[in-house]
Amino acid sequence: MPATPEPLRVDFVSGAVAHRLRFGGGRGQAIAKAMGLRAGKTPHITDATAGLGRDAFLLASLGAQVTLIERSEKMHALLADGMARAHDAGGDFRDIIARMTLLHGDAKDLLPTLSPEAVLIDPMHPPRKNSALVKRELRQVREIVGTDPDAADLLRTALQHARNRVVLKWPAKGDPIEGVRPCSHQILGKSTRYDVFMLA
Ligand SMILES: C[S@@+](CC[C@H](N)C(=O)[O-])C[C@H]1O[C@@H](n2cnc3c(N)ncnc32)[C@H](O)[C@@H]1O
Repeated sequence: MPATPEPLRVDFVSGAVAHRLRFGGGRGQAIAKAMGLRAGKTPHITDATAGLGRDAFLLASLGAQVTLIERSEKMHALLADGMARAHDAGGDFRDIIARMTLLHGDAKDLLPTLSPEAVLIDPMHPPRKNSALVKRELRQVREIVGTDPDAADLLRTALQHARNRVVLKWPAKGDPIEGVRPCSHQILGKSTRYDVFMLA
């Protein structure tokens, strides 16, 4: 009989996230460059699609204040729980969590009220052809939140309300989102690319 899968949980203190915290490439990482973190410059970031909070945690670990927005009640509860455990772990974890503010709601409604400096958007991506390659955790997130068919509306809202830049995290070979102006530049990772829209 197949083993029952572990329930999904947000874990910043051990596993992949903690490993990346210790051995990741600092501000040289593609996401940090895309969001505009560099020597002497640390923008306030609004992560409009918080999910498991991995990107937000990484950016906060690099010194950024990060506002996380998540609309799924269940994902929001998992995030709140993971953040509380990381706070309790103390030390660097507590310092990083202190830079993260979690909001519950639809980013399309909240972004216009926040006057955000730099917005990160990482919607649920179109399903891969080879679904065996999709990690268990991502499958579990998909079971909870489904797809994000309003990603284009979210991107348009962010472009209207961000002050400095909007970054779309998207599969490296994914088609651009239709009906949105071309991005200013792209930063390519292995399987992911960052479409950067400069506004200032
Ligand atoms: C692919 S996951 C994000 C993963 C995240 N970047 C991470 O590092 O864990 C997408 C998440 O964004 C949320 N989401 C999508 N559209 C949203 C919106 N308009 N407002 C708030 N949350 C949204 C979904 O519920 C889902 O949890």
